[in-house]
Amino acid sequence: MSTAAHGNADYRDHGLEFPPGFVIGSATASYQIEGAANEDGRGPSIWDTFSHVSGNITDASTGDVADDHYHRMVEDLDLMKGLGLESYRFSMAWPRIQPTGSGAVEQRGLDFYGRLVDGLLERGIRPIATLYHWDLPQALEDAGGWPNRDTADRFADYARIAVEALGDRVHTWTTLNEPWCSSYLGYGSGAHAPGRTDGADALAAVHHLNLAHGLAVPIIRETATNDPDVSVTLNFHVARGSGATSPEAKRRIEGLANRVFTGPMLLGAYPEDVIADTAEVTDWSFVQDGDLELINQRIDVLGVNYYSTVTVEMWDGISPRQNADGHKDVGGSPWPGSRDVEFLVQDGPYTDMGWNIAPDGLEDLLVDLSEQFPDQPLMITENGAAFPDVVTDGRVHDAERVDYLNRHFTAAHRALQRGVDLRGYQVWSLLDNFEWGYGYSKRFGIVRVDYDTQERIVKDSGHWLSELIRTRRTP
Ligand code: FCB
Repeated sequence: MSTAAHGNADYRDHGLEFPPGFVIGSATASYQIEGAANEDGRGPSIWDTFSHVSGNITDASTGDVADDHYHRMVEDLDLMKGLGLESYRFSMAWPRIQPTGSGAVEQRGLDFYGRLVDGLLERGIRPIATLYHWDLPQALEDAGGWPNRDTADRFADYARIAVEALGDRVHTWTTLNEPWCSSYLGYGSGAHAPGRTDGADALAAVHHLNLAHGLAVPIIRETATNDPDVSVTLNFHVARGSGATSPEAKRRIEGLANRVFTGPMLLGAYPEDVIADTAEVTDWSFVQDGDLELINQRIDVLGVNYYSTVTVEMWDGISPRQNADGHKDVGGSPWPGSRDVEFLVQDGPYTDMGWNIAPDGLEDLLVDLSEQFPDQPLMITENGAAFPDVVTDGRVHDAERVDYLNRHFTAAHRALQRGVDLRGYQVWSLLDNFEWGYGYSKRFGIVRVDYDTQERIVKDSGHWLSELIRTRRTP
């Protein structure tokens, strides 16, 4: 990673300018907001199963009701319109559309997303649809899940069904959200559904998620009739460290977290060093002839999710090993073959997730990606922060979230000034929602949700974003 040129120590620029066509909006995901878990023929997903197992979710909650968005979609669309959002990034629940992950199609599920997309277009908001944000149909997990190659083919079928239904009006299709989490947290650490803990399975899942992406991209292009943008969203780990062994540790972690996806997807090969680093875990025999050609597809935009950094060095094998990688520790490791890499506790300030606030990490990441992939447009598809909000006289004065967003929009602005082809910024999240293993205990919304009444209150950060969009300048 290059080091960002810090224009001022404060890292909050004023008068931010964004080029014409740069879309500012907000993001959500199906299982985190929809609720209506058993309605209109929706089948169970791995997150239904996982969240109903005692001990898996910090506050013992589930996504059964969540924000009840399934029933309040029109109200939520009006909220977006009121904020002046230019885009909305949502995900489609595979088990609403194919309840068992293959075969029969549930028209009521497709109709729901059809109404959502129409409602966005009527309000002048660009629809950015993600096909997979982690809610794998349980039937496919029962058949082996992502470590099973067949799941990639099932995903390709599902992609065709979704795009046949909405491929005349979705602006941007994203195949996968954060396959890092799907594979390493789902099958390695066990912090996410389905909660399995096997490093070899996690790496097989990596490959089959890459394959699923590669199979879906041409299907989206040939099925859609409106020439959409096609993308994938990755959560890049920005690794830092000043120790003598930090460069080696950074290579390891950025390989396993980032290059194992960008390598096959954008360059057509797995990084040799990652294959060597994981040799004791797997022989990679799940990679079949021809797979890399399938995975290596041109994409119109690369989605970047960014929240914070990690600081790494090699563990000396003697002192207590620090494990501060920012992910919920449930015993298993999301880093196959990396017991000798140590994640050091980082300096604050921190968000309510315990994640360090490092906007310059976003600037570094965007510049680094544009140097690695010079012709690849980028979009920030998630960035935001959880803080313990308080309601005062019907308002939420979330000054820390405003400040976080201000600093990260500054980072995006600085990256643009340094020549990065950045196409937009989707704030995570529109609504407080089910934050996976943490349930409802972490609030990321720019709009507060009262889970007892389902009342929505636009937080100061929502007003701030609205004002940014309204007053944004173009160079
Ligand atoms: C990302 C997920 C998103 C949300 C944020 C906080 O990893 O894509 O659903 O949980 O983190």
